[in-house]
Amino acid sequence: MKAIDSEYLFALTNPGSEKALKLEVETSGLDWRLSYQRRGFVTFKSDQPFSLESLETNLGCARRLCLSLGKSTTREEAEARAREAKVMHHARYAERKMQGVQGEPPEIGQLVGTVVELSPDEFWTGIHRHAPFVSPDPAGDAGIEMPADSPSRAWLKLEEATRFFDLKFTSRDIVVELGCAPGGVVLALLNRGVSVIGVDPAKMADVVMASAITARDAATTDRPWFFHSRKPAALTSKRDLGQGVTWFMSDMNQSPEVVLKECARFCKMAPSIRGVLITLKLTDLMQVAEKASWFAALKAIGFTTVRLQQLSVHHKEFALLGIR
Ligand SMILES: C[S@@+](CC[C@H](N)C(=O)[O-])C[C@H]1O[C@@H](n2cnc3c(N)ncnc32)[C@H](O)[C@@H]1O
Repeated sequence: MKAIDSEYLFALTNPGSEKALKLEVETSGLDWRLSYQRRGFVTFKSDQPFSLESLETNLGCARRLCLSLGKSTTREEAEARAREAKVMHHARYAERKMQGVQGEPPEIGQLVGTVVELSPDEFWTGIHRHAPFVSPDPAGDAGIEMPADSPSRAWLKLEEATRFFDLKFTSRDIVVELGCAPGGVVLALLNRGVSVIGVDPAKMADVVMASAITARDAATTDRPWFFHSRKPAALTSKRDLGQGVTWFMSDMNQSPEVVLKECARFCKMAPSIRGVLITLKLTDLMQVAEKASWFAALKAIGFTTVRLQQLSVHHKEFALLGIR
């Protein structure tokens, strides 16, 4: 097959993340120059033509990155531009945000066409190759609905991150989550059959307390359980964790420095931790310029694969993933 290249590429973002994306491109040392921008849609140009390999860079502010195959005035014309694609995705700017509209999840290695409708007569066509840690959903937007019994929107963050990164959890996993109250993430994990040690001085919702055990050593293997270590993260000890913790998660409203320091301490207390998933809460999205230091902190702990990603359900937040 003829190599696909283009003078332009485009990124789909959350509304309001466009400026942070430009800063992230700049601080990542990429020689991409801004070409055209609309809310949730940013195109870049470079001196060298872009290829599919140019998309293999992790930009946390981009929910989807595509080689741009040009602009059309009709959907049909836009679709025809991505003839090589095995799967076609549609996205549109509506209700003040970039939304995935339709499209099947692709398989790893398949070419995916993306038709983005910015207005009734402005369509853009993109193409990318589906790869690990790339969202399978149109516009990187899982469109998941939260169940009525979830105590918080954090349920959506866990579910969308799981889908975006294709994380696999089993009933043998034990997650420690810092900042677990009122319990949206805990509920999502329990429903996936995963046991959780939650650290938070605040009260948990009844729906998760229904699975609570009163002491860490009361854990059994016949059902997923929840142990509430009701204190601040800094006061949690090895004893509270016990044996066999496999994932570290944090949703604490603390600075990235505090969270990453606790992450290192917890990974030392529980060397069986194989993955971390942190919701980084920022005061300003421009803090994305500190990305290299967040990656360095995870690499220093021993995580070899690290990714930063703003999910469609995030506001001033990013998901930071580390896998050994
Ligand atoms: C956004 S809420 C977490 C939502 C939760 N993950 C859920 O699934 O519902 C942030 C939580 O972080 C907790 N928190 C803040 N600082 C903390 C600390 N140092 N240690 C433990 N929890 C902390 C707060 O008490 C608060 O409940």
